[in-house]
Amino acid sequence: MLQGKKGIVFGVANHRSLAWFITKALSKAGAKLAITYQDKRFEQKLKKLADEELPIPPLTFLCDIRDDNRIEEVYRQLQDSFGGLDFIIHSIAFAAKEDLEGRFIQTSRSGFLLAMEVSVYSLSAIVRPALPLMEKGGSIVTLSYLGGQRVVPHYNVMGVAKAALESSVRYLAADLGEKNIRVNALSPGPFNTLSARGIKGFTGFLGHFQGKTPLQRNIEGEDVGNTALFLCSDLSKGITGETIYVDAGYHIMGS
Ligand SMILES: NC(=O)c1ccc[n+]([C@@H]2O[C@H](COP(=O)([O-])OP(=O)(O)OC[C@H]3O[C@@H](n4cnc5c(N)ncnc54)[C@H](O)[C@@H]3O)[C@@H](O)[C@H]2O)c1
Repeated sequence: MLQGKKGIVFGVANHRSLAWFITKALSKAGAKLAITYQDKRFEQKLKKLADEELPIPPLTFLCDIRDDNRIEEVYRQLQDSFGGLDFIIHSIAFAAKEDLEGRFIQTSRSGFLLAMEVSVYSLSAIVRPALPLMEKGGSIVTLSYLGGQRVVPHYNVMGVAKAALESSVRYLAADLGEKNIRVNALSPGPFNTLSARGIKGFTGFLGHFQGKTPLQRNIEGEDVGNTALFLCSDLSKGITGETIYVDAGYHIMGS
């Protein structure tokens, strides 16, 4: 489905990362990929994982998205290697641990700004310098969560960040539509990852969630990977500015 297409996935930490499930789905569909990771200590394991599980070996880049120079360097290297880009996956979020366990009212100025910079501004920060590589159009996909629409215990400042992220998706979609670049968000249900475990009470929440969904189950990484594949493919060419729930139907329920 993605033969001849090229893309970059930002935010792979390990084999549990939603970005990793997306990487696998895109790679299996024939895309040539680059993946980025935040921390040098992820590097060896990720390269091993890529060798073992991906049909097409990816380019790999260390990239902290707070560093604009680094982002530009990644795209310079991609221009040399790929010559262009068809899609970007943004699977990055962060808030300080203390802001994901106390009360929202206690969020500090620095904690608020950190969550907004890493989880929201980073989308624009990685899309803008990519535009010269996307002259034939393309697809951008980010990851949100229901906590941006409703109050979810302990999600706090990250909920505010996800609301801003979903709004960024709409503004970017309106800005970039004339270039035939589509911008959408996936909103998965809870899934056990490094970041998710940083939210107080997360494990208990998984059990609660399973009992409340129409499909009577938690989501699987493949559910997210395959929906991202749909959004990166021409099958979704009429969809932009949208947030698509991948949550076994949880968000439709009244209680
Ligand atoms: N796991 C869930 O339950 C769930 C549900 C809905 C949405 N999401 C969203 O999915 C996305 C991916 O999270 P995940 O659950 O796969 O966890 P994860 O910990 O595997 O991924 C988060 C990624 O963000 C990266 N990151 C954080 N700060 C960064 C920085 N300064 N520079 C570069 N990278 C940085 C981390 O290195 C990591 O790779 C996030 O946006 C998260 O909010 C997760």
